[in-house]
Amino acid sequence: MKIRAATYADAEAGAQVLQRSIAELCRADHNDNDTVLAAWTANKTPRNWKIWIDQNETELFVAVASDQIAGVGMLDHAGTIMLNYVSPDHRWRGVSKALLARMERQAFDWGLRECVVESTNAARRFYESAGYHGSSDTPRMTKTISV
Ligand SMILES: CC(C)(COP(=O)(O)OP(=O)(O)OC[C@H]1O[C@@H](n2cnc3c(N)ncnc32)[C@H](O)[C@@H]1OP(=O)(O)O)[C@@H](O)C(=O)NCCC(=O)NCCS
Repeated sequence: MKIRAATYADAEAGAQVLQRSIAELCRADHNDNDTVLAAWTANKTPRNWKIWIDQNETELFVAVASDQIAGVGMLDHAGTIMLNYVSPDHRWRGVSKALLARMERQAFDWGLRECVVESTNAARRFYESAGYHGSSDTPRMTKTISV
C-alpha cells in the first residue's frame, strides 16, 4: 500500500470511498438516519474533490492498494485532520494508520506540533491508540506530534 497526493483522476473513486466509508462504517454515528447521512455525504463529490485539490489551505492524500483507492485523508494547514476514511473493502489493513502517520508527518514538516481531529464514534478507539486525547463528551481530540 502506498500513500500519495490525490489527483483529479482520483475524483470519482475517491468520492466513492468517502461515501461508502461513511455509509457502511460510521453507523455508530449516523444510525442509518437518511437525513443525517445525506447531510454528511453531500459534499463528498468528485466536483468537491477537485476543489479540495486546488485550494491552498488543505492537502488531500489517497492510500492506494492493488491499484485501488483504499483510503482518503485530508489535512489543513492548522493541523486539523479533516478526512480519514478507509474503504470498507480495505478495513483493518493499516490504511487509516498509514494515512494518519502521513498527515502527522506533513503537519510536523510545516512546523506544527499538534494535530486535531473531530473523531467519529467509529474511530475514537483508533485515535486513542494513535495517541490522541480528548474529553469523552466531545468529539475533539488532540495529539502532540514529534515525528
Ligand atoms: C476504525 C477505523 C478508523 C480503523 O481504520 P482501518 O484502516 O480500518 O484500520 P487500521 O489497520 O489502520 O487501524 C487499526 C487500529 O484501529 C484500532 N481498532 C482496533 N479495533 C477497533 C475497533 N473495533 N474500533 C475502532 N478502532 C479499532 C486499533 O488502534 C488498531 O490498531 P492496532 O492494530 O495497532 O491495535 C476504520 O475501520 C473505520 O471504521 N473508519 C470509518 C471512518 C471514520 O470514522 N473515519 C474517521 C473520521 S474522523
